[in-house]
Amino acid sequence: MRVTDTAPHIAEHPQPPLGEKMRILGFVGSDAGRFKRFDEQTHQAARALEQAAKRGDGQSVIASFAALQNSCLACHQNFRKPFMEHFYGKP
Ligand code: HEC
Repeated sequence: MRVTDTAPHIAEHPQPPLGEKMRILGFVGSDAGRFKRFDEQTHQAARALEQAAKRGDGQSVIASFAALQNSCLACHQNFRKPFMEHFYGKP
């Protein structure tokens, strides 16, 4: 089943190399706590999605997939623009 295969890749995605992680955390600075909470929400939503898929609970797969997408969006809305400007030099 695709969802049960894929969700763990999101939940357990590899951490970036230490150097990159330091640059990211250095840049988010005092927002690091908020950034990590967004990251944690995404992990949790992905785990919930995996569980729902394993149970064969279609309703909850849809609901947790929506929660997962919201968690991606929430972090992007807060952090993506400044990241793009800072690390890639574009808006
Ligand atoms: C904790 C914050 C955070 C979470 C959670 C997050 N992202 Fe992102 N994402 C970013 C930031 C910051 C960037 C821009 C910097 C970069 O591309 O390196 C980005 C860039 C991206 C990009 C690159 C392409 C583009 O248009 O810039 C993709 C694709 C993406 N995210 C997908 C996702 C998906 C799918 C999820 C949810 C499963 C997710 N992200 C969750 C912070 C987050």
